[in-house]
Amino acid sequence: MSKHACHGTMLAMTNKDVAILILAAGKGTRLKSSLAKVLHTAGGRSLVEHVVRACEPLRAKKIIAVVGHQAEKVAAVLEPFGVTTVLQQPQNGTGHALLVAKGAIGNAKYVVVLPGDAPLVRTETLRALINKHKKGNAAASILTAVLADPSGYGRILRKSGDTVAAIIEESQLTPEQRELNEINSSMYSFTMAKLWPALAQVKPNNKHREIYLTDAISVLNAKGETVLAEIAENAQETLGCNTRADLAGVDRAFREWKRDELMNSGVTIQLPETVLIDPEVSAGEDTVIEPCVQLLGKTKVGARCVIKTGSVIHDSVLGDNVTIEPHCVITKSRVDSGVVAGPFARMRPESHVKDGARIGNFVELKKSVVGEGSKVPHLSYIGDTRIGAKSNIGAGTITCNYDGFAKHPTAIGNKVFIGSDSVLVAPVRIGDGAYVAAGSVITDNVPSDALGIARGRQANKPGWAAKKRREMAAGSKDTKKAKQHHR
Ligand code: UD1
Ligand code: MG
Repeated sequence: MSKHACHGTMLAMTNKDVAILILAAGKGTRLKSSLAKVLHTAGGRSLVEHVVRACEPLRAKKIIAVVGHQAEKVAAVLEPFGVTTVLQQPQNGTGHALLVAKGAIGNAKYVVVLPGDAPLVRTETLRALINKHKKGNAAASILTAVLADPSGYGRILRKSGDTVAAIIEESQLTPEQRELNEINSSMYSFTMAKLWPALAQVKPNNKHREIYLTDAISVLNAKGETVLAEIAENAQETLGCNTRADLAGVDRAFREWKRDELMNSGVTIQLPETVLIDPEVSAGEDTVIEPCVQLLGKTKVGARCVIKTGSVIHDSVLGDNVTIEPHCVITKSRVDSGVVAGPFARMRPESHVKDGARIGNFVELKKSVVGEGSKVPHLSYIGDTRIGAKSNIGAGTITCNYDGFAKHPTAIGNKVFIGSDSVLVAPVRIGDGAYVAAGSVITDNVPSDALGIARGRQANKPGWAAKKRREMAAGSKDTKKAKQHHR
């Protein structure tokens, strides 16, 4: 394709005549929450972030968000996306929100309005809506959906096959109109030269005394303008979140999409409906994820790993061929290839378990490095510690990294053997090839190849136990006799 032809297509795709307006000022009364509605999360992101991400590839002239309730918090989420925010205070309805944004919209020919609480919408759907609007030379184009249960939504009153007469809000439906099952998604494309005069005529004729954007549709229609409706191919995309149940439904949809994406890329997921994966997680081919696993944040899992049931992995990087046994909790850590961890292991932030190492059951690591092929197999706390390669840390070993004031480091070299139930009081160093005798409390450095032993010396007392038994037996006969005598 020539450079010129390419340029032409790019122009058609960039939407430089379109501004996007996200309505995000509402409180979300029906959620019964101290958090603004659009900040609630589903599918691992806030509702409004999903909406912005769907808009970004449209490359519109600008993206504007109307904020109000918890405006600063909402603006903080939107700022990294280069969104312009406009304050709506008080929130007098969706139509009022547009009026407040008039200055920011400026001379954009078209405005795409999106509710901040409908996060499942996809870029392609918005692109189709804009294209239909432009081609149809419409004043307004509405994305609609046909739902089995339309309750809670404004309903579309069709005029002809393709055009709309009005949107009737749920509270204003007549009994016959309750049967209407085509709903308003609250996603629209408007030609602003036509919308502004129509919106100026809308009165707050409802019990909330709000200016409803939906009322502008019948005004446009009365003026003889064209209002089109585009039925979403996938009705899910139009779902809004007004209640906690809505949030759960939307979350379920996102999670399903994400699991499908991973399964399509070669990951096995058992009982997929029980597995929760955040949007930025990746996993390599032939990795197996067992039921009830959570992979969160920016977690990256390599190829041919097995993540067993009940494990929760957050912002961590796993190499290839890693086995995470059941019920491990791994946070902000690195687990290199061939590692086996768990069951019931915990890696707190900044832990790094190197190639082929083994972390066993009831082991807690914090800000520690476990070198290649080293083993911490049972019941340990390892904090602020560097362990070299091929060392063996016996069952129940504890690093005392905290003296009540500050944290101190422990250094354990290569091929070290720490006997079971030892306590390493930091700061302390155990040299390469050293041994620590079981049950030691180590407070001084142990040089390379030395044995550190720090425990009471054992003394055996011959016959002590037998003598004790004889004494006890004689004593109990005496007391029995004494009791009988008393009767
Ligand atoms: C709205 C539509 C309804 C549609 C439904 C789809 C109106 C009057 N009704 O109802 O037809 O079926 O969405 O989900 O538009 N907002 C502001 N400022 C305000 C009021 C609302 O920014 O003054 C924002 C909210 O934060 C929210 C969005 O606009 O993100 C929609 O408001 P909401 O109260 O959820 O409207 P619905 O009752 O769902
Ligand atoms: Mg809503």
